[in-house]
Amino acid sequence: MTSIVPPPLKILVVEDEPGLREMLGILFRREGYEVVAAPGAKAAIEAIMQHPQPFPVVLTDLSMPDGSGLDVLAAAKSRSPSTEVILITAHSSLENAIAAMRLGAYDFVAKPFQSAELAALIAKALEKQALVAENLRLRAQVGDPAAREIIGRSAAMRRVMDLVARVAATRTTVLITGESGTGKERIARAIHRQSERADGPFLVVNAGALPEALMESELFGHEKGAFTGAQTKHRGMFREAEGGTILLDEVGELPPSLQVKLLRVLQERMVRPVGATQEVAVDVRVLAATNRDIDADVAAGRFRSDLYYRLNVIRVVLPPLRERMEDVPLLAERFVRHFAQEMGKDIAGFTPDALRALQAYAFPGNVRELENVIERAVALAGARVIGLGDLPPELSGAAGAPTPALLALPQQGMRLDDVLGEVERRLILEALNRTGGVRTRAADLLGITFRSLRYRLKKHGLGEDAEDDDGDLEQP
Ligand SMILES: Nc1ncnc2c1ncn2[C@@H]1O[C@H](COP(=O)(O)OP(=O)(O)OP(=O)(O)O)[C@@H](O)[C@H]1O
Ligand SMILES: [Mg+2]
Repeated sequence: MTSIVPPPLKILVVEDEPGLREMLGILFRREGYEVVAAPGAKAAIEAIMQHPQPFPVVLTDLSMPDGSGLDVLAAAKSRSPSTEVILITAHSSLENAIAAMRLGAYDFVAKPFQSAELAALIAKALEKQALVAENLRLRAQVGDPAAREIIGRSAAMRRVMDLVARVAATRTTVLITGESGTGKERIARAIHRQSERADGPFLVVNAGALPEALMESELFGHEKGAFTGAQTKHRGMFREAEGGTILLDEVGELPPSLQVKLLRVLQERMVRPVGATQEVAVDVRVLAATNRDIDADVAAGRFRSDLYYRLNVIRVVLPPLRERMEDVPLLAERFVRHFAQEMGKDIAGFTPDALRALQAYAFPGNVRELENVIERAVALAGARVIGLGDLPPELSGAAGAPTPALLALPQQGMRLDDVLGEVERRLILEALNRTGGVRTRAADLLGITFRSLRYRLKKHGLGEDAEDDDGDLEQP
């Protein structure tokens, strides 16, 4: 999706013998890799845990004065299961090498070795890794076919999309706020998909969904026997999302004790599973979403301000749909296409009055409500176009009462006369609807004379029946 040249692949070389370490460095740099060298097991583990991205490949000596290559292997695998580890062994420690394979090493080479042999082995390990990643990516695409695109052409949504494109490339925490149904989760997915983690997992945790005690282990995992009922070990969402992105949905609901723990995760990039004595490094990007007024929660002391600052590094605000009504026709059309295809129907669009009803409704449930309205309409539609009658009563209700959408002054301004005309038209239709079409009573309801009503009906092209069509437009 981008034309950026990928950075060179990094190899961590762990070898205590300086001559060999240098030789390996020269060899791999010549092959086009970036090399990070560590003189022993301790330095290697530190590099593995602290490097911003996990190493694709670690090449490590098996026995070193300050520790074993097996510890390096374990650290690399705990940081990222997709790291491939290759061990260099002396002939005498072949048994250890075999144990290492069981622990998840990719392969081993015995000293003395040919540099060509080693280079080929590394290329093979990287090839396997690329295949696995490609597989994951394809599977993600297949499993997630409708959730790609962000639809919207309003200035507000263009700004949102622009921000998404700019933050995607970073690892920054992003706080996405907006009313329910405005597309917060969809934006989070877009950030993930446009990031270099796109091939990694994308997980959503609803922070308000579980009781506090369960939530902790859901997020951070637990050891076997950590508490009553913990019969097996659980990795937790953070570790499941390794290499990918986690969306903390409804983050405003997170109980205070977990707010502290989350803060630590964001600061240290380490999680401590419930009942564990050691912390584990995680490489996960955190996105958060909420439809609460989190600023008010912070001001009232219900949400920790230090955590808020960590989450709110970048803020994406999704405006309610009624403040970007220009997006309604575009969204409606895409949803029609989508549902028509799904239901095997041939539907071309809307009748003008149906479209007008859509554009006049305030959509308190935002894009989700629009999506549901269209799904229902496509299911009901008997013709090739969706008519007013296919829309739910709150939209079609004699073309609707004046709604907050009409009464709001949009960001980009309005044409007052058109809007007033539309308000008038709808109130007249509503009155006629309520009086079963009896005009004298409708006029009474509206507090105008019969003549005035007739004039207005004509103006709006509504008074077409021959009976009282006297052909001229009188002023009331
Ligand atoms: N810009 C958009 N383009 C296309 N579809 C959208 C857009 N915004 C929202 N949707 C769709 O509307 C529905 C609601 O969006 P989403 O679940 O992301 O909202 P949300 O803000 O997370 O809502 P809640 O606060 O209730 O969790 C989804 O089906 C989503 O695909
Ligand atoms: Mg959501």
